[in-house]
Amino acid sequence: MSTPSLRAVLDTVAAYKPSEGVHGTTARPRPLSANESPHPPLPGIVEAVARAGATVNRYPDPGCGPLIRALARHHGIAEDRIAVGAGSLALLQTLFDSVADPGAEAVYAWPSFEVYPTLAALAGVTSVQVPLTDETHDLPSMADRITPLTRLVIVCNPNNPTGTGVDPGALRAFLASVPPTCLVAVDEAYHEYARGPAAPSALRLCADHPNLVVLRTFSKAYGLAGLRTGYLVGDARVVEKLRKACLPYAVSTVAQHAAVAALGLEEQLLRRVDETVAERTRVRDTLLRIGLPVPDSLTNFLWLPLGPHAADFGAWCARQGVAVRAFADVGVRVSIGSADDNDQFLAAADAWRSTGRPATAGAGQTQHVRKAAEA
Ligand SMILES: Cc1ncc(COP(=O)(O)O)c(C=O)c1O
Repeated sequence: MSTPSLRAVLDTVAAYKPSEGVHGTTARPRPLSANESPHPPLPGIVEAVARAGATVNRYPDPGCGPLIRALARHHGIAEDRIAVGAGSLALLQTLFDSVADPGAEAVYAWPSFEVYPTLAALAGVTSVQVPLTDETHDLPSMADRITPLTRLVIVCNPNNPTGTGVDPGALRAFLASVPPTCLVAVDEAYHEYARGPAAPSALRLCADHPNLVVLRTFSKAYGLAGLRTGYLVGDARVVEKLRKACLPYAVSTVAQHAAVAALGLEEQLLRRVDETVAERTRVRDTLLRIGLPVPDSLTNFLWLPLGPHAADFGAWCARQGVAVRAFADVGVRVSIGSADDNDQFLAAADAWRSTGRPATAGAGQTQHVRKAAEA
């Protein structure tokens, strides 16, 4: 029987694949594959969700008024510089859709957030992927790949899946080199976990670059992954157009109220982020002691550049009851979870090494990892 004619691109793009389950066991795996907060919502957020739940016979506020006002106060900027979406993922889709004239290209590093190629393909935008150097954005090479057809550049900072950050001076120089007609999106989904010299946000650069938008999310540090709320900040003239490309009513009433509540509880939430950062150091130090390569991370996950051993390590962890994210032939990303979940992961990693598996990706061993090993 024939089926309806849909766009040919749907035969080629990969379906989003959630983390592998645990094979051969019925137990729920330790959830270290999706970079979520391990902490349950604070009581103030649960209360806001319950209150908003009582109004869901009505459509949400399509302009996300109270949330945008709260964000404007939070960042000390005008409300017309902010657009809210159903997760920063929806806003990324809006960006690709908004630049997708025939022939448009998008430049981004690779490996980076795995959804960028799919969104580009669905929008009909050609992806130009620029390999990372030492697990980090190679901004000069990205600048070299910009042509008159480039309509969007994405800098995922810190980068998913490698956890690395760009040097602020290098980012400033890069922005100065991008034509002002080309949109630049800095995806800061993990900004709150960044510490050290690469931590500053690109938000402060928006005033000098009307072609820059910065993406943030409530899914990670603010612990609202299940409610789907993200936002972007940019020049008011750009934001006005991008808002038109967002689906109306996409951000639920419950999500809007929870996000406002989360901003009000920021101090407590950021204390939890500090706990995750401390766990990140503990887990990384232990992995280095075990002899596994791990670049320093500015996020709530760690990256093991295991190259050809990545799939084996991922499958091993799954059998040990720990869900991690394996990228075949590249590496494995493991989220920082509760101390207990992290311990279970470390036990799995230690057991993997004890079976005689290799310490590093050999030729793939990076400068970051060499530096860490020498430290
Ligand atoms: C780099 C990056 N950007 C954006 C997102 C999307 O986040 P959300 O749609 O939950 O806001 C993620 C989620 O993992 C991510 O890793």
